[in-house]
Amino acid sequence: MPEVTEINVLPSGSACGAEVRGVDISRPLSEPTFAQVRGAFFEHGMLVFRDQSISERQQIDFTARFGEPDQYVLSEYQAQGYPEILLISNLQREGKNIGLADAGTTWHTDSSYLPTPPLATLLYAREVPMQNGRVLGDTIFTSAAAAYDALTDATKATIEGLTATHWYHGKHQARAKLGRSDRNAPKPSEAEKLAPVDHPIVRTHPVTGRKALYVAQGECIGIAGWDEDKALALIDELAEHTVSTAFHYRHRWQAGDLVIWDNCQLQHLAIKDYALPLRRLMHRTQVKGTAPF
Ligand code: OGA
Ligand code: MN
Repeated sequence: MPEVTEINVLPSGSACGAEVRGVDISRPLSEPTFAQVRGAFFEHGMLVFRDQSISERQQIDFTARFGEPDQYVLSEYQAQGYPEILLISNLQREGKNIGLADAGTTWHTDSSYLPTPPLATLLYAREVPMQNGRVLGDTIFTSAAAAYDALTDATKATIEGLTATHWYHGKHQARAKLGRSDRNAPKPSEAEKLAPVDHPIVRTHPVTGRKALYVAQGECIGIAGWDEDKALALIDELAEHTVSTAFHYRHRWQAGDLVIWDNCQLQHLAIKDYALPLRRLMHRTQVKGTAPF
């Protein structure tokens, strides 16, 4: 008989997010235990497991329970020896960032500018910035599924079947021009993967079938067949609605947190309210997704 651990799921009380207790990620979970975790994940869109102590390999193994581990499109900030792990960090070595230092500072869903964005992302907190006993660098999550549900029937009808164009450089190029980009340009082989791509504005969840809005101001540069002014006005309206506080859960990190979020139903935002010498170091993995439909 496999060992079955009854897990304890505590919903955040907001439109998304739950804490899971009673699970030690450093040990392989039995199939029935993992089935409970997976069910809670798709129900709440974001789970936190507190007080975890896991190696790179254990994080990759847990990621693999949800699907095939994926690699982030830029290879520059991988953990040494673990290409599946992307460092999200403000730390520097010899004056250079060791990881992505500007990850997630506008509302987004991960890598929506790719033809097949990751289904899920996992972030493991190794070091969190602390000042006067308070943790900085929160991450806010918003339920794009709850945001869709809250639309009027007229708006739902207007946007049915529309596709928006997502572009990596929509945000990074604008930042680079302002001299505020913290990341290097993609390598030529990576740049090829970053051509603009169209995705439905209303995304159907590949597992639950639930609908969610799938537009963000940083990435979306137009709507197929629409003139630019009209398209950007609708993108702004939908994106701003998606990030209304009514749909938020704000995560205050502790070192040892492992968080997983569902890119098909949530968006998120990193609050960059800290700087060196306050240190932040996160290990990030992702699960391969399918083309949005
Ligand atoms: C990410 C991301 C947010 C954060 O890793 O995809 O958006 O708070 N991170 O680090
Ligand atoms: Mn992100």
